[in-house]
Amino acid sequence: MNGLLTLKGLSPNIIQSIIDTAVSFKNDSSKVTSFPDKKMVTLFFENSTRTQYSFQVAMLNLGITPIGFSSIGSSIAKGESLYDTVKTFEYLGVDGVIIRHSQNEFYKELENVNIPIFNAGDGTADHPTQTLLDLMTIYERFGKFDGLKIALVGDIAHSRVAHGNAEVMKRLNMDVSIVGPEIFIDDTAPRITLDQAVDTCDIVNLLRVQFERHADVIEMSKDDYHSLYGMTKARADRMKKDAIIMHPAPVNRGVEIADSVVEHKKSRIFEQMRNGVYIRMAVISMVFEGKL
Ligand code: CP
Repeated sequence: MNGLLTLKGLSPNIIQSIIDTAVSFKNDSSKVTSFPDKKMVTLFFENSTRTQYSFQVAMLNLGITPIGFSSIGSSIAKGESLYDTVKTFEYLGVDGVIIRHSQNEFYKELENVNIPIFNAGDGTADHPTQTLLDLMTIYERFGKFDGLKIALVGDIAHSRVAHGNAEVMKRLNMDVSIVGPEIFIDDTAPRITLDQAVDTCDIVNLLRVQFERHADVIEMSKDDYHSLYGMTKARADRMKKDAIIMHPAPVNRGVEIADSVVEHKKSRIFEQMRNGVYIRMAVISMVFEGKL
């Protein structure tokens, strides 16, 4: 299967070359290759603003025609499978599909698809372009990965971002830790306290509390969560001088991050979104050029 499904099989050198390509697109638009004969469809079975629309902006920047798709009003509502839907687009002459789906590794049932597939988030497993844009944001700040200390804070157990980021960051020799309440903790990385993360880490990577998935099991109030695990202004100010705060967004303001910290000088949250466009341009063009 062609495309980008997970970063697990990609070497650090390939990951670095994707980041370098994205940085070159960001810094010099003349480096961008155009693919005016191509069209791609975004198949999102879960809600999304950043990933869905930054893939569409990336396509427009590459001269590719984006085609939107809504499962409501499509033949998915008549029971058509994911495989038959994707195969249909292949035979309609679409050149690639971008898919977000609640099922972990949904792409395993698409092995007989002959057009590139880009994973825009699968269940709690992986979100490869989010990991790449997070890495690009870190690389722009520090110029390296080796030895950097990062804490993933919040709902680790349900987070595809936490799982995807930790897997790659460990391979890039980053020192990865996790922070959060007991019900959100798994074995992704060693656990530390929020105070340790704030005082010692180069990057504090906050995660969204996914109230829509498990509001019933979160026993503490939003105020208590914020006080115990949230990035308050006092905590942000206490972080190391060069340290940065990241969050994949959407953010729950006043829960995992204080309203006033979303645009704090240490925050890279909106820059992450900007970098998402360049990362998605990089992965699409590298796949079409046979470099990925
Ligand atoms: N970070 C992220 O995946 O955001 P969306 O759900 O809005 O795409």
